Amino acid sequence: MKDQSDFIMIKALEDGVNVIGLTRGSDTKFHHAEKLDQGEVMIAQFTDHTSAIKIRGNASIVTSFGEIESENPR
Ligand code: TRP
Repeated sequence: MKDQSDFIMIKALEDGVNVIGLTRGSDTKFHHAEKLDQGEVMIAQFTDHTSAIKIRGNASIVTSFGEIESENPR
């Protein structure tokens, strides 16, 4: 069981932000994509199935390691 520090918070700063879950294990694949519109928030955990999370688009991200913003280059 994972502890609560594995939660991350993602707030979309524009429409169409993608939150993509990548699989845990020997091959790393996308397993889930969630689209957030501006102002929408997703609170997610790393789990037995999810070892990495990729975020595309402008978003504010808070984790136990700190806060960061993802940026849309276009
Ligand atoms: N069913 C997925 C899982 O348990 C759901 C999930 C958890 C997820 N964290 C995520 C999906 C982060 C996308 C991004 O692993």
